Amino acid sequence: MQKFVVTGGRRLRGEIKLQGSKNSALPIMAAAILPEGQCLIKNCPELTDVYSAARILNSLGCKCSFSDNQVFTDSALISSTEISEELMREMRSSIVFMGAVLGRMKECTVSIPGGCELGPRPIDMHISSLRKMGIDIRETGGRIICRTRSERPKGAKINLNFPSVGATENIILCAVLADGETVINNAAREPEISDLCGFLRKCGADIKGDGESRIIINGKEKLHGCEYSVMPDRIAAATYLSMTAAAGGEIILKNACVAETEPFLSVIEQTGCTVSTGERKIYLRSGARLHAVRDRIRTMPYPGFPTDAQAVLMSALSVADGTSVFEENIFDCRYRHTQALAKMGADIQVMGKIAVIKGVNRLHGANAEATDLRGGASMIAAALAAEGTSEISRIYHIDRGYEKIEEAVRLLGGDIKRVQ
Ligand code: UD1
Repeated sequence: MQKFVVTGGRRLRGEIKLQGSKNSALPIMAAAILPEGQCLIKNCPELTDVYSAARILNSLGCKCSFSDNQVFTDSALISSTEISEELMREMRSSIVFMGAVLGRMKECTVSIPGGCELGPRPIDMHISSLRKMGIDIRETGGRIICRTRSERPKGAKINLNFPSVGATENIILCAVLADGETVINNAAREPEISDLCGFLRKCGADIKGDGESRIIINGKEKLHGCEYSVMPDRIAAATYLSMTAAAGGEIILKNACVAETEPFLSVIEQTGCTVSTGERKIYLRSGARLHAVRDRIRTMPYPGFPTDAQAVLMSALSVADGTSVFEENIFDCRYRHTQALAKMGADIQVMGKIAVIKGVNRLHGANAEATDLRGGASMIAAALAAEGTSEISRIYHIDRGYEKIEEAVRLLGGDIKRVQ
C-alpha cells in the first residue's frame, strides 16, 4: 500500500493553481444522466472519486470518458437503472445518482453508500423527500428499490429539518424533470449546490433560489446537453492555506473562489496570518508564530465555518500560541485525526463535539494512518510543520479528494514523497 513520507521544518513558498471542486464535480457528473445528449464537464479534478463516478455512469449505459481534467458524457441511451452494491460502496456520494436516475428513468435500484467514516450518515431525508415526490421506495436485502407511482415524479413542497447537502442535491436532480413545481425549504446553501444548479440551468432546467434557503424548481419534459466548467475547490484552498500557516511561509492560490472561501479566510486571519485576495487569487503569509483563535470555531452549514476545513485548520492551531476550541456540529465522528496529531506532539482534548487545542512549541515526526479524507490531509499539514520525518499510510483516503497533493506540496518547497 502506498504512503507519504513527509519531512517537516521547511517553510512553504510559491504559487499553485487550485483543482476543480470534488463536491461539485460528483453531483454534476450524476446530473449528466438527465439530458438526453452530450455534456462536456471541464475543470474536473483527477481523483479516485471522480473515476468511481465515471464507472457508475458507464455501468448505467451513459458513455463517459475522462482526460485532461475534462469529462465527456453521452446519455442518449441509458441502458440500466441499477447501480451495483460494489459501485455504491466505492464512495458515499454515489447516493446522488439516485435522484438523477429517478429523474431520467423514473425508477432506480441502489444501496446504502459506503461504510462509517465520520459517524452515522443516514439518508432518511433523501428517502422521505423523494417519497413526497411520488416515488415508492422499499428496502430489501440491502437494496433500495425506487419506482415512480405515475408517469413522472411529481413536484412537491419539501421542508428539510436540516439543510443536508446530499438531500438537497438529490431533490433537485429528481425535480428538474418532474411534473410541476418543487419547493425546497431549508435547502443547503453550499456553493457546490449553486454550481450544480448552474450546470442544470445550462442544460435547460428551470431552477431559482439556489444559494438561498428556498429553492424553486419547475420540472421540464426534457433537458439538453451542455458544456460547463466546475468551480474551484474551496476545501482544497483551505487545506493548502492551513499547510502554509502551519509550516510558515507564503502562498498564492490561483483559480480560487474567493467569496466562497471567505468563511474559512475570516477565521485563519485571526491566527495572525496576513491574508489578501484579488481576482480569483488568495494570498497568505504566515509569520513567526501563529496565535490561537479566540472565539470558538463552530462548524456550520454554509456560510458557516466548513466542517471539511476543521481538521486541516486544527493542525495549524496545534502550533499556535494559546488555546483554540472547535465545536463540530455537522458530523458525530469527525475528530478521528486527533490521535495522529497527538502522536506528533499536539495537545488536543476531545469531549464529544468539542476539541480543545493547546498550542505547543513544535510537533515532531511520527507514523500515522489517514483516517478519512480531510483528516489525512491534516496529518500532512502537521507533518510539514513537524521536526523530523513522518510516514502517513492509508493515503487512498487522501487521493479521494486531492489531485496530486504531493506535487502541489513539492511545488511549494515541501519535502513529501509517495512511496510504495
Ligand atoms: C456533503 C459533502 C461533505 C461535507 C458535508 C457537509 C459531498 C460529496 N460531501 O456531505 O464533504 O462535509 O456535505 O458540508 O458533497 N443527515 C441525516 N439524514 C440525511 C442526510 C444527512 O441525518 O438524510 C445528516 C448527516 O448525518 C450529517 C448532516 O446531516 O450529520 C450533514 O450531512 P449532509 O449535509 O447531507 O452531508 P453530505 O451530503 O453527506
